[in-house]
Order: sequence, then structure tokens, then C-alpha cells
Amino acid sequence: MKRGMFIALEGGEGTGKSTQARLLAAALEALERNVVVTREPGGTAGAEAIRGLLLSPPGEGWGPRAEALLFAAARSDHVEKLVRPALHAGNWVVCDRFLDSSRAYQGGAGGLGDAAIMALHDFGSEGLRPDLTVLIEVSPDAVTARLAERDMGVADAIGGRDASYHAKVADAFGHVASSEPDLFVTVNGQGTPDEVHRRIMAALAPLLENAA
Ligand code: TYD
Repeated sequence: MKRGMFIALEGGEGTGKSTQARLLAAALEALERNVVVTREPGGTAGAEAIRGLLLSPPGEGWGPRAEALLFAAARSDHVEKLVRPALHAGNWVVCDRFLDSSRAYQGGAGGLGDAAIMALHDFGSEGLRPDLTVLIEVSPDAVTARLAERDMGVADAIGGRDASYHAKVADAFGHVASSEPDLFVTVNGQGTPDEVHRRIMAALAPLLENAA
């Protein structure tokens, strides 16, 4: 059996991750790989329940530490019940957001720092890392235009945070990607979905050869 790979798609709001996850899965299937597409927060029943708590928080909302713990708890359930079993069975796993969202949002923009997020990940998910994380970058102006169309002014508890929070998220993504060049590729997310998809497939070419 061909070996499966774990690919995460990352980026801020409205960078096209979900569309690219679907296009990537279809392309991998056309190459005769078995593919599981999933997302975070979510992917399992327990993690989807935690997603509801995170994106529509009860009462006055979560503090930064509780928020980071909930993301780590959702990820732990997702990794144990879905991601690891799928990889062991030889599937490719394409995940719309993973650990690096917690590093960028809670660690960077939320101010908890990278070491705290990595410690939670070591405990919660025994440190599982994707084989490759694709960071999709889109300019802030283009994102504002896309989100106005997609969300019609209705954003969730985290997506609706102010522009300075999202600017810190973008900075933190750039920083984590450049600090671990073997684990990341950065892809320009501007252009049509097909253009971006072709860039992602080019970035994945070495992995596809290794896993042939
Ligand atoms: P998602 O539904 O993927 O949002 P979008 O489609 O806008 O990209 O993710 C929900 C929100 O959760 C999004 O604002 C990013 C945030 N998030 C974190 O803050 N930390 C995390 O670890 C993850 C996975 C998501």
C-alpha cells in the first residue's frame, strides 16, 4: 500500500483554505490516493461540539488560556480518533487548519506565546505534526473584500475580532512558517482557485514523489 501523508492548510480568515482542501483532495484521488478531508476545530463528534463552544461562546466568552485549552482538547480528540487512524490505514489526510492556527491565533495574536501552545500540543496530541503545512497568504485588502462577500457582516467569535488581532495572526503565521522551513511551504493565495491549486500541487510534488 502507498504511504499516506498528513497535509495541513493554514492561513487567516478568507484565504481560501476550504476551497483548496476540496481541490487538493480531488487531485490526490485522481492520483489514486485514498484521502480523508477534515477540519479544525472539529472533525469528530466531540471536537465539533467543542467547536460550537469556541465559535459561539456561552456567557461572557473564554479567557485566552481556556480558549487555548479548548482548541487543544478538540485537537486531541480529532488526532486520536480520526487523524492517526486514517494515517495508519494508509490514507492521505488533508486538514483545513491544525496546530499552526493555535500558534498564530492563541500563541501569537492572543499573547500566550509559542512554547505554551507547543506544550499543550505535546500533551494533547503527543506532538503530532503534519508532513507538510501549506500556508496560504492573501493581502489584507483582498481578504477584507472576500469576507464582506462570504460572511455578509456576520462573523464568529474569533473571525469577528478586530483588524489588529488579524494582522498579528498573519505576522505569527509568517513567523512560524519561516522558523521551520522544512515543515512549511508558503503559497500565494491571490488569483483564481485553480491558479492557487496549481501552486499547491507544485509545492507538493516532492512529497508525492517520496510517497509514490
Ligand atoms: P474556520 O471555520 O476554519 O474559519 P475560516 O473559515 O474563517 O478560516 O475556523 C474557525 C475559527 O477558529 C477561525 O477564526 C480561526 C480560529 N482558530 C483558532 O483561533 N485556533 C485554532 O487552533 C483553530 C484550529 C482555529
